Amino acid sequence: MTSVALIGLGWWGKIMARLIAESPKLRLVRAVDIDPAGAAIVRPLGAAFSTNYADALADPAVQAVILCTPHAQHREQILAAVAAGKHVFCEKPLALTRAHAVECVTACRNAKLVLGIGHERRFEPPILELRKLLADGTLGTPLQIEANFSQDKFLSLPADNWRLSADNAPAGPMTATGIHLLDLSVSLLGPARRVVANVAQLGSQLRNGDTLGVMVNFASGANALISAMLATPFVGRFALYGNKGWAEIVDKAHPEASEGWTMTTCLRGEKRVSRDFAAAPAVLVNLEGFADAVAGKAPYPVTDAELTGTIAALEAVFASARNGGTVETVAG
Ligand SMILES: NC(=O)c1ccc[n+]([C@@H]2O[C@H](COP(=O)([O-])OP(=O)(O)OC[C@H]3O[C@@H](n4cnc5c(N)ncnc54)[C@H](O)[C@@H]3O)[C@@H](O)[C@H]2O)c1
Repeated sequence: MTSVALIGLGWWGKIMARLIAESPKLRLVRAVDIDPAGAAIVRPLGAAFSTNYADALADPAVQAVILCTPHAQHREQILAAVAAGKHVFCEKPLALTRAHAVECVTACRNAKLVLGIGHERRFEPPILELRKLLADGTLGTPLQIEANFSQDKFLSLPADNWRLSADNAPAGPMTATGIHLLDLSVSLLGPARRVVANVAQLGSQLRNGDTLGVMVNFASGANALISAMLATPFVGRFALYGNKGWAEIVDKAHPEASEGWTMTTCLRGEKRVSRDFAAAPAVLVNLEGFADAVAGKAPYPVTDAELTGTIAALEAVFASARNGGTVETVAG
């Protein structure tokens, strides 16, 4: 069992606390939130609580920290954890610039510590199936991805919420939902080479932008067309087109309370086939993959190049959304 401290007990941290409590591979020994109300959430789970991150870093019982804090804090909290000799699972995005992502990955590698990332969509069963169809050549050469992850959960947030701030969420929906699609695209197509993005405030009071369109061009020549909106009801779709066939995955409900997926595949010369996948605990699978890596049982399945490559592309999205035009990504 890997003993962990959970940092940040907001929307996502509460979900993580429940998942950790039910895992045979993880033990929640401590939690931290600057809001003292967090005590009532974790004390029933048998974990210690404090309002100071340093308490978790000083606790010898803590092997790893799980960061569920606002994005702009991730880098500093990762580097502090590494200095204290703790493994790190960081919620997405890992960092807001490529330089900071490289700094975090390098610090973990030099200290021989595992760095996990909250990109659980990689572990959803239909995405694993899609990856298999691509790897075994069934879909042929990948040509293009079309993906959409939109929701209207943020419409009720107060205007001063950190998720709506330019510091924590440049390019509106990008850091909330678009980042998952960008990461999936990098994991399937490799490094990005250029990006063009447009963000606009069209249908809500969200001044930081509610409508984002991104085109990512990859070193392979393939494209990903990423759509993320914050002023329309939930929709989740991920499609990959190859020169032998295509596959499309549609979420039946928001991943927070997944009801499973429908996957449709179409191979050249054949009829299209649709298949339903039951809901699956992708967030827990990701966390347990991290626990296995900490225990030395298996390497964590997200590579360093993917960790930094996703953030390199993210930084290019921010720059394009801010300044307009096409932005080259920095490799590696
Ligand atoms: N993987 C996913 O699908 C997914 C979904 C939602 C959120 N997230 C990520 O989880 C993270 C948190 O998002 P959220 O929606 O839960 O935000 P939130 O605002 O609901 O919660 C953040 C919590 O962190 C606490 N906090 C802030 N600074 C702190 C500090 N220095 N030390 C300890 N606690 C601190 C806040 O008091 C709050 O309780 C973000 O990185 C977000 O992108 C991931």
